[in-house]
Amino acid sequence: MHVLNDTPTVCFLPDEAATLAAGAALAGCLQPGMVLTLQGDLGAGKTTFSRGLLRALGVTGRIKSPSYSLVEPYVVSNLYLYHFDFYRFEDAEEWQESGFREYFHADSICLVEWPEKAAGSLPEPDLALRLNWSGEGRELQVRALSPAGAACLNRFPLAG
Ligand SMILES: Nc1ncnc2c1ncn2[C@@H]1O[C@H](COP(=O)(O)OP(=O)(O)OP(=O)(O)O)[C@@H](O)[C@H]1O
Ligand SMILES: [Mg+2]
Repeated sequence: MHVLNDTPTVCFLPDEAATLAAGAALAGCLQPGMVLTLQGDLGAGKTTFSRGLLRALGVTGRIKSPSYSLVEPYVVSNLYLYHFDFYRFEDAEEWQESGFREYFHADSICLVEWPEKAAGSLPEPDLALRLNWSGEGRELQVRALSPAGAACLNRFPLAG
């Protein structure tokens, strides 16, 4: 059994470009099957971070916020990428009916904004991210919650 260090990796993101770059940096360490949650207030930068990450994984074209659709799917080579936003999610029954459980599989990477709205239904994330306001910029905290997540953070620490 791995003992995981619960201390978050923290970095300051002075502007939007830094948030995009942090997403791109983290993309480099991800493995198929991983789940990332993104918490933070409305406008904290969760979608911006996800855009940087998805671009770096090879998504071309427009990357829309999933705030209305709940999920935006992408396929790059054999990798399925699912970008969720559960802000408008109502209850556990909606989760059952949505079939979203099927999206979390060995050949997908799932990014989840507002995971707290689907608490109890979502699989445990490998990496739990939080964005907080910090002056004009943002502070990013990343916690690894699985051995895969810890390996990822160790290889690509977002120091700063
Ligand atoms: N590090 C940063 N410093 C300053 N502004 C930023 C930073 N990162 C992102 N932003 C800006 O914050 C705004 C909101 O970002 P974004 O849509 O990504 O937030 P969100 O967390 O996804 O919000 P929601 O909860 O509504 O989905 C955007 O205008 C974006 O440019
Ligand atoms: Mg968003």
